[in-house]
Amino acid sequence: MKIVLGVSGGIAAYKAAELARLLQQAGYRVQAVMTRAAREFVAPMTLAALTGEKVITDLFPPETAAASPADAEAAIEHIAVAQAADALVVAPATAHVLAKFAHGFADDFLSTLYLATTAPVILAPAMNLNMWRHAATQANLETLRRRPGHVLVEPGAGYLACGMVGEGRLAELEAIVAALERALAQGQRDLAGRKVLITAGPTREAIDPVRYLSNRSSGKMGFALAEAAARRGAAVVLVAGPTAAEPPRASGIEVIPVTTAEEMAAAALAQFPHVDLAILAAAVADYRPVKPAGEKIKKTAAPLHLELEPTPDILAACGRAKRHQILVGFAAETGSPVAAGRAKLQAKAADMIVANDVTLPGAGFDADENEVFLITASGDRKLERAPKSKIAGQILDAAAALLAPSPSVRLVRA
Ligand code: PMT
Repeated sequence: MKIVLGVSGGIAAYKAAELARLLQQAGYRVQAVMTRAAREFVAPMTLAALTGEKVITDLFPPETAAASPADAEAAIEHIAVAQAADALVVAPATAHVLAKFAHGFADDFLSTLYLATTAPVILAPAMNLNMWRHAATQANLETLRRRPGHVLVEPGAGYLACGMVGEGRLAELEAIVAALERALAQGQRDLAGRKVLITAGPTREAIDPVRYLSNRSSGKMGFALAEAAARRGAAVVLVAGPTAAEPPRASGIEVIPVTTAEEMAAAALAQFPHVDLAILAAAVADYRPVKPAGEKIKKTAAPLHLELEPTPDILAACGRAKRHQILVGFAAETGSPVAAGRAKLQAKAADMIVANDVTLPGAGFDADENEVFLITASGDRKLERAPKSKIAGQILDAAAALLAPSPSVRLVRA
């Protein structure tokens, strides 16, 4: 899991180095983001050396006065990296940073990231006693305490760097790590007690014993969905077409390997009545040869004509069989993904379509990232480019919101 560690400018900033080390020991990847003031207290190099990751210090690289496309790309890449975070921990969080977060100011990388992330936010304030007690700070803290997905790790009391004694000392680092772990565990269990069907990867339709029709799907999008759903407590059935990548074998994921569209349809439709949520991310072949040759087709000088027939439409069949289930389909489009996705939403009786423009370089088929539109009856929403793990989490957030409340499970967002 990746944690973004925000460090703002107070004397306790030096403790961020030790916190980064503790987080790594707990198994997290850590990327530090430092405000300008934080860099007066700790050198970015210290955190870069400890975390092994580039420390993000600015919204734009300093040389972007001329704003070249390469610089802009670098800035966007930074944002994408930071947005892949599973949680944002800000320690120390100064009175200034808390005020910016409370009021939504975004004038540097950390405050911009704060507004952009949907991950849990853990804030560990540290400041002078009078600043802590000031009505403005207390009002900001109250706003943040009430904000969904936010956890405040209250400061301790003791001797402060300013010479005063009282509240304002950064909480014990172990308490910050424990608060993070609680927030992550809580945030991830919203699918506990749910059964989820996911299809992933391509299918292969035989032409003869050695050749087949298929496509470039790597399975990564569906695998990321399966992993994310299992992490959130779901019992996952993953119907996976043949891919070079190994399907995830984590606990909570049952993998049913299939090859053809017919096999995928049989496996998925057998599971569908028993699941709460089905997400069909597979790139199923739409056509297959009517009569695959029993022996390898010999090469001749004459053109070869293959007669093709449609394969079963699994999404449409699920749409017809739908009772209590939430049904999510994908749409792989090479133009106007929203219009095409909306047409599929209706034609297949789906509750949501995840539409992607598969002509975008670096996204869609066989890429580690994706950018998609979530299309439902109530409108559409763009998910900006991000690693498929992050996109998977956002798709599940939207799908979980469509699920009827389970009697045994309270939907919890840390
Ligand atoms: O696997 P990756 O390399 O990670 O790439 C991800 C992806 C590009 C494959 C994924 O993001 C994606 O778009 N998946 C759907 C691909 C596709 O077949 O789209 P479609 O528009 O042709 O199909 C629409 C929907 O109908 C899909 O949910 C598909 O699973 C389903 N379908 C299609 C054909 C068929 N015979 N039966 C189906 O159920």
